[in-house]
Amino acid sequence: MKTQVAIIGGGPSGLLLSQLLNRQGIETVILERSSRDHVLSRIRAGILEWGAVELLREAGVGQRMDAEGIAHDGCVLSDNDLQVRIDFTGLTGRKVMVYGQTEVTADLYAAQDAMGTPVFHGVEDVVIGDLDQEQSSVSFTHEGGRKTIACSYVAGCDGFHGVSRRTIPAEKRREFERVYPFGWLGILSRTPPVHDELIYANSDRGFALASMRSKTLSRYYVQVPLSDKAEDWSDAAFWDELKRRLPSEVSARLVTGDSIEKSIAPLRSFVSEPLRWGNLFLVGDAAHIVPPTGAKGLNLAASDVWYLFHALVERFGSGSSAGIDAYSGRALQRIWKAMRFSWQMTMLLHRFDDEDSFAAEMRKASLLHLSQSETARRELAENYIGLPY
Ligand code: FAD
Ligand code: DHB
Repeated sequence: MKTQVAIIGGGPSGLLLSQLLNRQGIETVILERSSRDHVLSRIRAGILEWGAVELLREAGVGQRMDAEGIAHDGCVLSDNDLQVRIDFTGLTGRKVMVYGQTEVTADLYAAQDAMGTPVFHGVEDVVIGDLDQEQSSVSFTHEGGRKTIACSYVAGCDGFHGVSRRTIPAEKRREFERVYPFGWLGILSRTPPVHDELIYANSDRGFALASMRSKTLSRYYVQVPLSDKAEDWSDAAFWDELKRRLPSEVSARLVTGDSIEKSIAPLRSFVSEPLRWGNLFLVGDAAHIVPPTGAKGLNLAASDVWYLFHALVERFGSGSSAGIDAYSGRALQRIWKAMRFSWQMTMLLHRFDDEDSFAAEMRKASLLHLSQSETARRELAENYIGLPY
C-alpha cells in the first residue's frame, strides 16, 4: 500500500489533519489501535477555542457544531463565596464554544467515511521506519496479517501512550514534565447545568468545575487524591462534595441526578521536543499534555494540526520545505504559552495536600485581584479564548 501521509492515531488530531489534507487532494491512511466504538465512547474535552471552531468549519465539519454547540461569552472563577466573572467578549471580542470532543470525533469520522479515506481500526505492533529516506514506511498487524504502507511523511497523532514519540531516539528527545499530586473525578449527568456559563471553583476543600455538554447534560469535576478510585465515589458523595466547593448560592440551585459516566483523570504537564524527526511529525497529545484546568488539550492539538496542515500543503504544492522545517519551532512556541497558562490556572485553583497557609492566601489574593482588576481579567481571558495561531 502507498500513500502520501500515513497518520498514526484516529483521535481528534489524526482525523482533523487527515480531513484537511484530503480536501486539498493529499492522500492519507489512518491507523487506529482501538475500535471506533471505543474512541467514540470516551468523554473528554468540552470547550473549543474559536480558532478550533474555524478550523473545523474549514475542514467541512462545522454544520452540527454550529447547530448544536453553545457559544459562551464568559466564565466564572470563584473562591468560596466570591464570584469573578470573566467577560471574554467584552475583554477580547472573542467567544468559546461548548461542543464535546466526542461529537467532534464523530463528525470527523462521518466526514472521513464520506471521503472514502482508508481507516484501519484494531491495528497492533505499529513500526515506523526509514524516516531518513525519501520514502518512509509504517508496518502494522491488522486482522492477523502484517501490512506495510510506503509514504512520504508520517504524522504521529497517537496520544501520550503512542509509539510515534518513542520512535525518536531517547537521546535526541528533551522531555519536560510536572506531575500534580491529585486528579479530577468527573461525572456526566442528564441534569440541567447549574449555571449558563462554566464555573471554575477554588475552595478550602479543593477545586471543582461546573461544566456542561448541552442544556440538559451537565459535566462536573472535583479535585481528588490520586489514591481515590471512581467506583468508591457514590453519586450522593460526589454531589455533597461538589456542593461544598461551589459558591453556596450556586450549590443551592444545583439539580442532581444519576451519573451516566464517572471517571478519574490524573493531571500532568508534559512536553517532548523536537516535534520532528526526519519525515515524522508529532501532533497533539503525542507530544504534549496539559492539566485540563485551562481547557487547552484539544485546542492545542488543533493548532498543531493547523501548522502541520499548512506546511504539508506547501510541501506537496510548491515543493518548498520551509513550512515543514519550521513546524516544530512554530508549534512549540504556542505549546509553551498554553503550558504556562494551564499550569497557572492549576496553581490558582487547586489545593495541594502538603501546602502551607501562605500558598492558600496567595490563591485567595490572586482571585481577589482578578475580581478588582480588569487588566488581570483581560490577561486571563486572552489566554482562555486562545492565543493566535
Ligand atoms: P488522543 O485523543 O489521545 O488520540 C490518540 C489516538 O491514538 C487514540 O484514539 C488512541 O487509541 C490511538 N493510538 C494510541 N496508540 C496507538 C498506536 N500505537 N497505534 C495506533 N493508534 C494508537 N482538552 C481541551 O482542549 N479542553 C478540555 O476541556 C479538555 N478536557 C479534558 C478532560 C479530560 C477528563 C481529559 C482526559 C482530557 C481533556 N482534554 C481537554 C484533553 C483532550 O482530550 C486531549 O488533548 C485530546 O484528546 C488530544 O487529541 P489527540 O488526537 O492528540 O490524542
Ligand atoms: C471541561 C473540561 C475542562 O478541562 C475544562 O477546563 C472545561 C470544561 C469539560 O469537560 O466540560
